[in-house]
Amino acid sequence: MKPVLLKEGIYWVGAVDWDLRYFHGPIYTTHRGTTYNSYLIADDHLTLVDAVYAPFAGELIGRIKAVADPSRIENVIVNHIETDHAGALPEIMKLAPGAKIYCSARARDGLQKHFPGAGWDYRVVKTGMELSTGRRTLTFVEAPMLHWPDSMFTYIPQEALLLPNDAFGQHLASSSRFDDEVDGHVLMEEAAKYYANILYPVSRLVLKKLAELEGMNIPVEMIAPSHGIIWRSRSSRIVEAYRRWAAGEWERKSLVVYETMWGSTMLMARAIAEGLSDQGVATKLYRISAGDYSDIIKELLEARLLVVGSSTIHRHFIASLAPFLDSLACLQPVNRIGAVFGSYGWSKGAAQAVTERLKQAGIETVPESLEVLWIPDQDDRQRCYQWGGSLAGLL
Ligand code: FEO
Repeated sequence: MKPVLLKEGIYWVGAVDWDLRYFHGPIYTTHRGTTYNSYLIADDHLTLVDAVYAPFAGELIGRIKAVADPSRIENVIVNHIETDHAGALPEIMKLAPGAKIYCSARARDGLQKHFPGAGWDYRVVKTGMELSTGRRTLTFVEAPMLHWPDSMFTYIPQEALLLPNDAFGQHLASSSRFDDEVDGHVLMEEAAKYYANILYPVSRLVLKKLAELEGMNIPVEMIAPSHGIIWRSRSSRIVEAYRRWAAGEWERKSLVVYETMWGSTMLMARAIAEGLSDQGVATKLYRISAGDYSDIIKELLEARLLVVGSSTIHRHFIASLAPFLDSLACLQPVNRIGAVFGSYGWSKGAAQAVTERLKQAGIETVPESLEVLWIPDQDDRQRCYQWGGSLAGLL
């Protein structure tokens, strides 16, 4: 793929990773691969914004060479040090050893630990500081914890172009680079999954940063993140979606997530889901071992109610629910409520343990969980159906 022109003299020179199926270790499934986006500003002073994951250094360098001699790079902007964006930095710096690296103070400290003894020329920047590349000015905006302490955004006022690194990204491999060239539904789905699995726990900071950007009164026409597709036609749509997700806004939707040993909890789950949907609540039903919890977590961006069920085994919930519940505790969904159910034999325990885990995730549950002894009979299933219907009243 050739370099792709964003604006006159500004090119995408990143790499497409069609094969990636897990991100951040095994916790985030990337069914549609990803991209590592780098941008080259071919101005009077040749400037690279972000590098790529190290295995793709050759592709990055090849695309830079198609525009300019990499040894001419004078400035490298490191918006974020995570290895998917700074991994290829040593290869770039070998080709352009005199280049200055512009980054936040925490990024400099982190890069020195990632690449000890590199001896690079760091220029620490803060919010509001500028760098002229000739006809353009780069303005830096620190964005600590969005999503790492070192993160920052780079803004180019002459082009109304924001380069916010991970923010507004998606794990979506494509031969297209722009939002008006891809399926809008797929794009928003991947943007939502990205927000839910990466940015959910810093939602308060997202709201603050959006307000700060608004207060700076800077026009933003194009948003070019470090993963996935560049927003050039729908940039306001993704900003508005971030505002909604960060604020914890919700729709009349629910998720019923469960695990079952011999089918009793499954029968309960189905009756509860039916009770909810018969009351007009859009409901999705997931058996955790048949699904993918990073996909399910994405659904929480819209669903207000999370109903979790498990059979009791050794006074606990079934262990296959643990990664889902642990992830919720990491991600701290905003403004969500929960309810808990399950079947048991000679002793209870699962419902209480699930309730405690949901509490750790900041999800308050309804006071009464619903438990059924052994196999739910017709009356029990009716009770589940009615319980589901009553939960609809919370929405
Ligand atoms: Fe895409 Fe935080 O790295």
